[in-house]
Amino acid sequence: MDKNTFYITTPIYYPSDKLHIGHTYSTVAADTMARYKRLRGYDVFFLTGTDEHGQKIEDIAKAAGVTPKEYVDKIVDGIKSLWKLMNISYDKFIRTTDDYHEKAVQKIFKKMYDKGDIYKGYYEGLYCKPCESFWTETQAVDGKCPDCGRPVAKAREEAYFFKLSNYADKLVDYYNSHPGFIEPESRQNEMINNFIKPGLQDLCVSRSSFKWGIPVPINEEHVIYVWLDALTNYITALGYGSEDDSNYKKFWPADVHLIGKDIIRFHTIYWPAFLMSIEEPLPEKVYGHGWVLLKDGKMSKSKGNVVDPVFLADRYGVDALRYYLLREIAFGSDGEFSNENLINRINSDLANDLGNLVSRTVAMVLKYFDGEIPAEREAGEFDDELKALAAETVEKAEKSLDTLNFSVALTDIWKFISRTNKYIDETQPWLLIKDESKKARLAEVMYNLCESIRIISVLICPFLPLTSPEIRKQLGISGDFTWDDCKVFGKEATYKVCKGDIIFPRIDIEKELAELEKKKAENVNPVKAEIEGIAKIGIDDFAKVDLRVAKVTACEPIPKAKKLLKLTLDDGTGTPRTVASGIAKWYKPEDLTGKSVIVVSNLKPAVLCGVESNGMILAADAAEDDVKVIFVDGVPEGSKVR
Ligand code: MSP
Repeated sequence: MDKNTFYITTPIYYPSDKLHIGHTYSTVAADTMARYKRLRGYDVFFLTGTDEHGQKIEDIAKAAGVTPKEYVDKIVDGIKSLWKLMNISYDKFIRTTDDYHEKAVQKIFKKMYDKGDIYKGYYEGLYCKPCESFWTETQAVDGKCPDCGRPVAKAREEAYFFKLSNYADKLVDYYNSHPGFIEPESRQNEMINNFIKPGLQDLCVSRSSFKWGIPVPINEEHVIYVWLDALTNYITALGYGSEDDSNYKKFWPADVHLIGKDIIRFHTIYWPAFLMSIEEPLPEKVYGHGWVLLKDGKMSKSKGNVVDPVFLADRYGVDALRYYLLREIAFGSDGEFSNENLINRINSDLANDLGNLVSRTVAMVLKYFDGEIPAEREAGEFDDELKALAAETVEKAEKSLDTLNFSVALTDIWKFISRTNKYIDETQPWLLIKDESKKARLAEVMYNLCESIRIISVLICPFLPLTSPEIRKQLGISGDFTWDDCKVFGKEATYKVCKGDIIFPRIDIEKELAELEKKKAENVNPVKAEIEGIAKIGIDDFAKVDLRVAKVTACEPIPKAKKLLKLTLDDGTGTPRTVASGIAKWYKPEDLTGKSVIVVSNLKPAVLCGVESNGMILAADAAEDDVKVIFVDGVPEGSKVR
């Protein structure tokens, strides 16, 4: 018997901030798929949630003066209301702070430990705090995190390790014997060439430098690494490791983990290895979609260009936003978001093509037949072509949706919408009405239009869950329907239509863009937005930082570290202080010697490219790629800055 269940997941989101249009993209895609499969009769389980542990959350909460749990609770409420607004039909929302999850993760850890896949050792490496990832010297190019580009710092701690190195061959074998496990396919080669071939190192799966995590069951001094905690959500949400694991038995393995391309490594290397270790089946597919970008690159809070889905959904409607995201960007590739493209799509595809088709048809049936199409009808030219395209469109949409090609499915559905509009022009109902003998032909034309629109209402339903019932209401049909209903042309006996609202009003693009610009100027000052977004600290926190004036007595480049300069400082203590500073791109040694700067004097020493650096000098990010050191010439060495 064919499998009748379908399990789809989104990533679980970090509740560190408000979610933006990029996160909405992942979730809308997963929701569309879940709705499509439900329509096709599958028993669907659609999972989303939040990834709540880790140092980043602990730090933010501390700075905000609340407990991590208090902090995340508030953000999670916001995330849930965003999904409600976007009509996300998830079956379960998991939080990694849920009790059942925490217990199950501990069981999983213990199982790996008992098996000998987890052992205790020391971790020494380069740590990226925001990504909570350790990197080797070769991976951290120029001292920067390969994932986010931010500086990494040396760290050493006692830790537990997962024997990832044991799984390298097994992973490659699995990829090779399961084509389609990683999609798009190019991402598989990326994983093999960039991560597996250079040699998989054992993975550090515990941390002891912070507390906000699930305690390691065999040593409460440590918490479990966030990615081990987070990835297992896909099975704990189904009850794995709990008393009632019936959903696990029913739905696992997942049909598809839908994720962004930046977290493919975690899902196609770590996750399968973890599952192999606990001897559970692997998911059928991991699909890494592309990114929603802006003209000037990534959205970032500091640039003040984060696109807010709530603003867009309130202004243009949820379905318009859902449509735009899935139509505009080929799934798997990156795509650019712009207000202009969004409005153009609304006007051309939704208002003109779909909206007009519905309103014209309903208006004609009302005008010519008082709303009810007569039973006496007569077939004619163009009908077969329309019906053939309807059948072909259903087939194509199915194929595209089954392979997550959302934009292709929508393109084909819209070809059918255009074809239906063309059918009106070809059959010219306004001429048929003038000739009493053509009444039956006119009735058939109206019927075919209504049938086409009914089929369209089924095809678009996974994408536009609010518009589809509105269209059906205007067609005068009610009740449940299934995907298979779009395979039958001629299903309804007749139609009794009723006038409804315009489903997508046209937007005056010039006026709207001007309005948006005005709003942006009023609201978004990037500096203001950035400062407002930073958690406030108490004066005690600031007092922890000791700032001193120091004179640069010598300065030289550091061999093998293009970006660094080695500064020798007189900080008034009588002992020269060495500081390595990443300013070689903007300053030559002679620009600095003899100048007075401000140094953070109580920063823990760090070894950067072989130089022990004791402190950091203050500099400003003057522009995107320009740094200016703060000079305080004339102020005595050792003066405290506060
Ligand atoms: N918590 C981890 C996921 C753990 S899954 C076991 C995480 N969270 S996240 O909130 O940072 O990101 C969640 C998802 O949003 C990722 O798949 C990421 O790729 C996606 N996106 C974040 N910004 C995006 C865009 N601008 N465009 C498209 N998706 C992007 O990673």
